[in-house]
Amino acid sequence: MEIPRMGLPDHLAARLSMAEQHELLRKKIRMSRRGMLVAGAAGAGAVAAAGIAGPAFANNTAEFWQQPDRLPGHLVVPFARHLAYGANPRSQVSVGWQVPSLVTRPFLRYGDSPWNLGHKVPAEIRALHSEVPGAIAPVDQYYVHAALNGLQPGKTYFYAVGHDGYDPTDLSTFGRVDSFTTAPSRRRIAAPFTFTAFGDQGVSYHALSNDGIIAQQNPAFHLHAGDIAYGDSSGAGKPVSSDGSNGTDVYDPRIWDQFLAQTESIAASVPWMVATGNHDMEALYSPNGYGGDIARFDFPGNGPQHCPSVYSYIFGNVAVISLDANDVSYEIPANLGYSGGSQTKWLEDRLKFLRQQPDVDFVVVFFHHCAYSTTNQHASEGGVRTQWVPLFDKYQVDLVVNGHNHIYERADALKGGVSKQTPIGATTHPERDGTTYVTAGAAGRSLYSFPVPDSYAGHVNDLDSVPSYVWANGTVKVTETVTWSRVRYTGYSFLAVDVQPAAEGRKTTLTLRALTEAGQEIDRVVIERTAGGDGRKRAALDENQA
Ligand SMILES: [Fe+2]
Ligand SMILES: [Fe+2]
Repeated sequence: MEIPRMGLPDHLAARLSMAEQHELLRKKIRMSRRGMLVAGAAGAGAVAAAGIAGPAFANNTAEFWQQPDRLPGHLVVPFARHLAYGANPRSQVSVGWQVPSLVTRPFLRYGDSPWNLGHKVPAEIRALHSEVPGAIAPVDQYYVHAALNGLQPGKTYFYAVGHDGYDPTDLSTFGRVDSFTTAPSRRRIAAPFTFTAFGDQGVSYHALSNDGIIAQQNPAFHLHAGDIAYGDSSGAGKPVSSDGSNGTDVYDPRIWDQFLAQTESIAASVPWMVATGNHDMEALYSPNGYGGDIARFDFPGNGPQHCPSVYSYIFGNVAVISLDANDVSYEIPANLGYSGGSQTKWLEDRLKFLRQQPDVDFVVVFFHHCAYSTTNQHASEGGVRTQWVPLFDKYQVDLVVNGHNHIYERADALKGGVSKQTPIGATTHPERDGTTYVTAGAAGRSLYSFPVPDSYAGHVNDLDSVPSYVWANGTVKVTETVTWSRVRYTGYSFLAVDVQPAAEGRKTTLTLRALTEAGQEIDRVVIERTAGGDGRKRAALDENQA
């Protein structure tokens, strides 16, 4: 089936920022509406299709609730459940889901056992209408969200979702019940746990295989490093490609329905924390391109203003930071500088804060564009190296996880641009050796290639150097020969990280395992630190501190 194209002339789209593209698109839609209104007056009957595109979250207006064409609630079955932590994962979890048509008074029930869902909280509908005359046929999507606050740390809760006419606790409906567990208390040393990460998933049977193997790891949470669903399958961050040779950016919002349905099997019980990649900038919905994602996902919301996918949380002795690398990308500059520097400022403030927390041993940062990768397709992003790598060095970030390149690659530990050879099975000490950079972008989209042979567990092919390039300002490729490309695997895969917390003065570790979509281990490295927290400081910690 032909995918509809969004139409801006090449010469305009080539130089427009995401915000300018959004404004132009809205003008185009408004002009088209006027045309349709005239046509409607002449009897063409097109007025009904003339909804303005945008994240119109019409959730509490009288007109919204009084629409007469709503189906009886029992005919509408919720799907696409997906969890996210709030800024404080010990007490805040948000649940998102979708309904195939509009419902009345959606809600979430939760409690401490599947047969005791005694708490009922109202949910919010974020209705997303997508339509560009001549490019995107009208599509309405109804995302539903409930935010839970005041939960107890380290506790398992059960939940189910419903709406008028569909109550999961009603015997005639008998709805699905899922569960989640909040993050452990900061006042005690956490039990060992695992988290997983990848980027560039989309919808495919490889994507589903990876989700299945991830579920087998029983992760506490999952990090998705951007290029989430590929509703915009072109990913150039503009409605029309700049060179005109390979057509236009195409956009189909219905891909998100497939993606969230695919993801529900795991995200209904594992917080699914997303960062935004170049394919997640959708000019249709908002000036920064993230209006659609705000409708679909819940973000912790403790990052800088207007940067929804920038946030941070503490889980056990690990602090996680999500960044939006579209803000610093020289390669795909549609959103370059959109935060006005506030993101990088926030990053430094946050790193400083986290390094002052007595219970935080490890800092893990994830985002889309790679600081260090050698594929033929995207390689390394100079904007990340210029703006953020010096902060990673300064605050001794332990692990950086990226996507964008659809392969698995691990660099040797790097500090100040100098690498320390870190072969498979090695233990690295971040204070001395620097940061470990992993590209885990083979979650489900078509694979990329390396300029040199793969090198992974059981198939080691160490090279002294690899020819590659890094993007410089102005979308310029600068060639470089690198010595840090330690593990390369061209196959569907993801990263699992086993965390072993410890008492003050003892060794605490992150064990990185890269697994294929079939569960085969292709890489392993241990990041080791001496645990810094002590009992007295821990007991005094404010559980509500996010
Ligand atoms: Fe991608
Ligand atoms: Fe990407």
